Parts: sequence; C-alpha cells; structure tokens
Amino acid sequence: MKIAISTGGGDAPGLNAVIRGAVLAAVHRGWECIGIRRGFDGLLGDDEVVSLGPAQVRGITHLGGTILGTTNRGDPFKWRRQRADGTWEERDRSDELVAAFRALHLEALISIGGDGSLAIALQLMAKGIPVVGVPKTIDNDVGGTVATFGFDTAVATATDAIDRLHSTAESHERVMVVEVMGRYAGFIALHAGIAGSADVILIPEIPFDITKVCDKIRRREAEGRHFSIVVVAEGAAPKGGSVSLIDPAHQRLGGIADKVAHSIEQMTAKETRTLVLGHLQRGGSPTTFDRLLGLRFGAAAVRLIAERKFGYMVALQPPTIAAVPIKEAIATPKRVPLDSDTIATARDIGISLGD
Ligand code: F6P
Repeated sequence: MKIAISTGGGDAPGLNAVIRGAVLAAVHRGWECIGIRRGFDGLLGDDEVVSLGPAQVRGITHLGGTILGTTNRGDPFKWRRQRADGTWEERDRSDELVAAFRALHLEALISIGGDGSLAIALQLMAKGIPVVGVPKTIDNDVGGTVATFGFDTAVATATDAIDRLHSTAESHERVMVVEVMGRYAGFIALHAGIAGSADVILIPEIPFDITKVCDKIRRREAEGRHFSIVVVAEGAAPKGGSVSLIDPAHQRLGGIADKVAHSIEQMTAKETRTLVLGHLQRGGSPTTFDRLLGLRFGAAAVRLIAERKFGYMVALQPPTIAAVPIKEAIATPKRVPLDSDTIATARDIGISLGD
C-alpha cells in the first residue's frame, strides 16, 4: 500500500503529531508514505512530494506548524496565480492532480484540513481518489467531532494572554478588549474568557448590545472594581449589525475589538486599550491534549484506510475515535450551542455575554 498525506488551510498546533501518528501507523503495516508539500502544490508541480518514514517524523510531535507546509489558497479546482501585471489567473487543475496521484501509484490520501480542505477532499473522492479526512482547526467549528486538534492549544494561549492582562488592567484602572480568533464560532472566546476570568465575553452566536456591555463595566466600577476585561471573538457582531472585515474580498475577519473599545470609551469615559491576539493562537508547541489527539487521529486515519472506509473522517467521540462521513461533518458547521452548560456557567459566574 502506498499512501499520501496532505495538510491544507491554516495551520494548527498538533498537525505534526497527526503526520507522525499516520506515518508510523502506516509503516507499522509495511506501507509506504509520501507527503505532498504545501497543500496540493506538491502534486501540481508547484512544489514537491517527499518520502515520509520514521526518520522524517522523529521528534516532531511537540512542534507547531506542519513539516509539509500548507496554504489556504490551495484549491486545485480553483487554482489561482497572480500574473506579473497583478491580475489573477484561475483554472481547474484537478485532472492534473488526479493524473499525478496515479502516476505516483498512490492508493489513498489522508487529507488533514478544516471544512474547506475537507470539501476539496470530497470533490477529489468524486474524481476517483480514495480519501480519508482528519479534521483540523483551532476554531473547533467542524461538525461530527467533539474537538479538533489545535483548539486546546489556542485556548491555552488566549487564556495565558488574558491572565497577563489582568495586572496591567487593574494597575491602570483600564478596560482591556482582547480580540481572539475563531471565525464564525465563539468557542475560543468562550473557553478562554471563562478560564481567564473575563468580565464580558462576546461571541458570534449571541449578537451583543453595547449598552449591556457598558452596564456591566459600570456595575463593576460601582463595586470598586475599576478595571474590566472584555474578550471578543473576531466574528462577533452587534445586534442588527454585521461582522467586522479587514479584507472583505477574502472574508478576513478583524477589527471588532477596536470598534467595541471605541464605544466603551465613549459611553463610560473609561480609558480603554485593545489587544488582537491574531496568529499567536496558531503558533507554538501543542498542548498534551492536542499532541495526543493528533497522534490518535493520525493512527485512526490509517486504520480507516485499512478498512477501506473512504469518504470518512476521524472524529473525537469520547471515549473513542469514531468514523464520520465527511459529507455529514461539513454539512452544518459547528457553533457554540446556546443551551450548553458552558454558556450557563458563564452566566452563573457573573460573566456578561452582552445580551
Ligand atoms: O481558521 C483558522 C483561522 O486562524 C481563523 O481563526 C482566522 O479567522 C483565520 O484562520 C485567519 O486566516 P489567515 O491565516 O489567512 O490570516
């Protein structure tokens, strides 16, 4: 058996653990493994494919990023290149990719990616490439799995940042507004906000009312708490308003913290500062949880290939790693359930959700 592994979309801590788990599980069965560099570029002649064995995956479990490289502009069905004059050329290169896959005598592909990469994997499956998926994203917004690897590390990084902001916010009696990632899901904001003792958490699932946010800050002020920490998810939006985009053409979210901070300063006269955590949340060494989940996902993906369960992705469904049809998993993106105990906990311990 000869299999290929590709990592697509934004990186997430734990990717290297998945690669290691998959390669060692494949080698354990006497299979051959290759890695496709930079998404699918390695099969399109824009990069290379590399042989993966125990030597190539030694000592990588704890490393952030991906040894294979990645891109979030790597759709072979809508392959794009910028011409010298600045205009874009776009074309479907999927047939080329399938031909390259066959020319290498590959028999299966492990596609490690978020909803975008998993959707591409399904399209490749329709073209005859046997695919299994591994869900990846710090946002935790892929359905069918309790968690994606990378999420725990991102939450740990955001929590650490919020912890550090407390002392400076208190010393200066300021409001600190922290913007965290998560796209249209509020998991990072909610989990890090609760764990980091934020006073206000704003998530995309609950459109916020800025007067409620200011009420909470004023209440704290009246109680002698002259500082506040507001955690805002990049995809949060005010009631009746829209999300904040820094690059509308590519739907890149960002800028909501500045808007929230500006309104708070205007409405409460409290000095306010903003921090955008950005890609810090994607970097660094994966937590123990993400390392273990990554290794389990990688090895489970190889077991799916051995069982010829193509079109499925591995999923964490404690206590086990289950197989879920990719189509089902990506049909409805996962969002913070409003009836979850995490939301109830936030409210019960006095955190304002801006509603
Ligand atoms: O999906 C992961 C993620 O980090 C999102 O949280 C964020 O909105 C986006 O990717 C940022 O993408 P880029 O790396 O293109 O800036």
